[in-house]
Formats: sequence, structure tokens, C-alpha cells
Amino acid sequence: MSGKLVLKHVTKEYGDGQSTIKVLNDVNLEVKEGEFVAIVGPSGSGKSTFLSIAGALLSPTSGSVLLDGEEIQHFTSRQLNEIRLNKIGFIFQSANLIPYLTVRDQLLLIGKLDGEDRAEVEERADGLLNRLGLEHRKDLYPEMLSGGERQRVAIARAWMNNPEIILADEPTASLDSERGRDVVVMLAHEVKHSRKAAVMVTHDHRMLDLCDRVLFMEDGCLTPYDPAKQ
Ligand SMILES: Nc1ncnc2c1ncn2[C@@H]1O[C@H](COP(=O)(O)OP(=O)(O)OP(=O)(O)O)[C@@H](O)[C@H]1O
Ligand SMILES: [Mg+2]
Repeated sequence: MSGKLVLKHVTKEYGDGQSTIKVLNDVNLEVKEGEFVAIVGPSGSGKSTFLSIAGALLSPTSGSVLLDGEEIQHFTSRQLNEIRLNKIGFIFQSANLIPYLTVRDQLLLIGKLDGEDRAEVEERADGLLNRLGLEHRKDLYPEMLSGGERQRVAIARAWMNNPEIILADEPTASLDSERGRDVVVMLAHEVKHSRKAAVMVTHDHRMLDLCDRVLFMEDGCLTPYDPAKQ
């Protein structure tokens, strides 16, 4: 079985016309379904850039990205939008909720964008809100929620379209360690239970036991993490 998410020889350079900097240097990764991969590494090493490329938000300077066996390099922007909406669930460090929508409406919006039947979308949204313990918060706006609750809304939203690939960039950064662990436990459970492929960038080494594999990003290079060395 091939990987759900495959990155091959991915390089990313930024240039201002005079000089270029290489932010990612020949990075390779394959994540299989049911696999939860963590990436750790110093600030500025390229972790978020890597995740953005894996999620089709940013194109690499060279190399290829395969989502569910499909190479996305030559996709039109419309095809890329579809992929982002249907195959990928993004969870960002700050939950990135829309301030003027209630918790439930944040979820319904995703279903609407996809032009689905309203009753089905509502049923799925309510099911997810229940599962993530947000039932009693569903009519509130983001500013009325705690950090942990906001992050759980972000997870529920990322799961609305049942994406095969979950990408999380420091999902616990705004949470205390107990709430942070709850969030990662939920992610790990969903990956196993629904056979998703997930990559999580984290600074928090206390979460690593919940992941199947840990990688280390340094100066744009990705290597297996060795706690004795790093
Ligand atoms: N649009 C851009 N133009 C130029 N340089 C950029 C751009 N985006 C990112 N960089 C540079 O790429 C490098 C990697 O950034 P990235 O955000 O991937 O790091 P990171 O590992 O996620 O760091 P952190 O842990 O602080 O979030 C940084 O040196 C950053 O300045
Ligand atoms: Mg980052």
C-alpha cells in the first residue's frame, strides 16, 4: 500500500532578486493511512513551510507532492481548492475561527462550501460537536470560548468533510499541558479509528509518545528524531 501523503525531494527557496535562501532542502516523507507523524525542530527550521506544501497551500520550488496517490503539481487552482476542501483537514496554532460565526455555523459553513444537503451537514456537525464535548457551546461565538474549546472547534471543523489527511501546526501551543494532551489524544484516536494520515508539528515533547513516528527538522532537512542527540 502506498502512502496517503507523499513528498518527494521537496525544496523551497525564497529569493528577493539578489540572494536566495533555501528553507527546505530535499525533504522526503511518506505517511500511510492510520499513521500519526510528529515533526519537532527549532524555530525557523522550515516546519510550517513544509506543512503548507504538504497541504497544497504553497507550491514547492522543486519536488513533488502526492495526495492519495495523485500528483498535485499540475492541478489548476480550482482542483487545488477542491483537494483542500475534501481531502485535507488543517488545524492551526491559533484556532483561526471566524469571529462572527457561532461554533455550529463554523462547521456548517464547510458543508455549505461543498454544496451538500443541509440536513446531512447539520447532522454531521451536531455529531462532531457532541463527540468533542462542545454541545453546550454550539451557539456561542469564538470570543466566548476558552482556548481549549476553540481548539476543539478547530478540530471539529477540520473533520467536517472527513478528510483523509490531517495537518496540525502546533495545535496545543495556546493550551495548558492537560488540555493540550486531550487535544492530541483526540487527534491520535481519530487517526487510528478512521485510518487517516496525520502530521503534527509540535514544540511539546510530552506529546510525542502519542505519535507513531517522530522526525526532526533542522535547517530545512528532515531526519529521524534521536532524543539522545537532539
Ligand atoms: N514568504 C517568505 N519569504 C521569505 N522567507 C520566508 C517566507 N516564509 C518563511 N520564510 C522563512 O523560512 C524559514 C522557515 O520558516 P517556517 O515558518 O517554516 O519555520 P518554522 O520551523 O515553522 O518556525 P516556528 O517554529 O517558529 O514556527 C524562516 O527563516 C522564515 O523566515
Ligand atoms: Mg511554524
